[in-house]
Amino acid sequence: MPIEQERLEDALAIHQLTDEAFKGMPFSQQTEARIVDALRAAGALTLSLIARRNGEIVGHVAFSPVRINGEAGDWHGLGPVSVRPAQQRKGIGQALIHDGLGRLRAMKAAGCILLGSPAYYSRFGFESASDLHYGNILPGYLQFLTFRGPAPKGEVSFRPGFDVS
Ligand SMILES: CC(C)(COP(=O)(O)OP(=O)(O)OC[C@H]1O[C@@H](n2cnc3c(N)ncnc32)[C@H](O)[C@@H]1OP(=O)(O)O)[C@@H](O)C(=O)NCCC(=O)NCCS
Repeated sequence: MPIEQERLEDALAIHQLTDEAFKGMPFSQQTEARIVDALRAAGALTLSLIARRNGEIVGHVAFSPVRINGEAGDWHGLGPVSVRPAQQRKGIGQALIHDGLGRLRAMKAAGCILLGSPAYYSRFGFESASDLHYGNILPGYLQFLTFRGPAPKGEVSFRPGFDVS
């Protein structure tokens, strides 16, 4: 499945897709679509990748810079990631994430950090981060994948767009 960078005209479809994917998810406050909009408005989308099927956007993943101990470096956060409900469990989410991680590596990023289920993200090589902290997030849910250099240590901060509530 071809994965492409978003175009200007894709913003509304990405918003709707993200709302649809997270609708009713017990862990979600349904702020994810606005998070993507806020990241875009702040020029903070390192990558905003879409998967299309028959011309329709069926999946999306965002990556944005993160800071560790307040320091900007080459670390990027993964998320939100969304697949249209009727198209889930067909490999679209994995294709988007693999593609994005490949692009980050090609950009010589240090690595990627995310908040999410270890059951899902361990397949991409993400590890739970015992030396990393983010507010009161449950242990295990803050995960990282190192591309180069040492594993990250300290307090993670995502872009302000992530605080949309
Ligand atoms: C999570 C999501 C992006 C995965 O995309 P997808 O295209 O459905 O997933 P894929 O087809 O690539 O992978 C399917 C595999 O992921 C697993 N999976 C999907 N969501 C999972 C979750 N939340 N926790 C654990 N495993 C999960 C499936 O069990 C399946 O595993 P299997 O292949 O061993 O059966 C998609 O289901 C989605 O949009 N969910 C709603 C929004 C969401 O939860 N986003 C992530 C927040 S961290």
